[in-house]
Amino acid sequence: MAAIEGFQTIGVDSLTPHIGAEIAGVDLSKPLSNEQFSEIYQAWLDWKVVVFRDQHINQEQHKTFARKFGSLHVHPMQHSYGGDPEVLRVKTTKDSTYTAGNGWHTDVTCDEIPPLGSMLYMTQTPEVGGGDTLFADMYLAYELLSDTFKALLEPLTAIHDGALPYLSSYKVNPPEGEAYPRNEHPMVVTHPETGKKLLYINSGFTARIKGMSQWESKTILNALFDHIAQTPRLYCHVEWQPNTLTFWDNRCTQHHAVWDYWPHSRYGERVSILGNKRPQAA
Ligand code: SIN
Repeated sequence: MAAIEGFQTIGVDSLTPHIGAEIAGVDLSKPLSNEQFSEIYQAWLDWKVVVFRDQHINQEQHKTFARKFGSLHVHPMQHSYGGDPEVLRVKTTKDSTYTAGNGWHTDVTCDEIPPLGSMLYMTQTPEVGGGDTLFADMYLAYELLSDTFKALLEPLTAIHDGALPYLSSYKVNPPEGEAYPRNEHPMVVTHPETGKKLLYINSGFTARIKGMSQWESKTILNALFDHIAQTPRLYCHVEWQPNTLTFWDNRCTQHHAVWDYWPHSRYGERVSILGNKRPQAA
């Protein structure tokens, strides 16, 4: 880790040269000063994934911190869990048949306006170790493509389908009678705050490219999914400890929760923040 200069009220230590940073000097159970909040906001935009260690917060404090960034999101699957609709439980035990997020994805891109960010607060980690989450930098994923491939992708739009995780990850049919969101987004978008271009597809939700035959769409999407899965320099690893909160910018990252700890357990709670703008073409 390397200390990043320029912050007065928080400590910022980078996890890699371009994605992920640990934030020190903050107690999320207490109100933040305006200066602390604006420095956390800047660190989050710069580093895309920010990690707060040793936090002792309850659900209300978790939601209060998240609300500083916008209104809270209710996950389309949340109705099946019960409990607070704004808090998504991420629970894996020896009896789990799948674990949420065990595959590359950006949260809920099937929504017309996907969440702008998510905060996962982990309270139980596997006692054998493991259970890291990998985060990939989608600005860099775009930059690494050739100019020819960028030019092919820029005018394209893809369909993001909320039924896809059931079929591909959970290996069950989507519940009958449910209307899962399905929306289209440009494949290359501009981040609404940084103005930088990024690749906006993910294997969790992106089902097909508009205006192409099935094989054409599949070939291009699979090549892009492989690009994410086979390029480790895109990633930072978050090694969880109990009482770690990680906040990611869902507009320019993907993540993959690694399930390498069966039969051990892991538990966290996620609060997501509503986006305020449809993803915009570059
Ligand atoms: C998720 O996809 O939000 C879950 C991530 C994790 O469990 O690390």
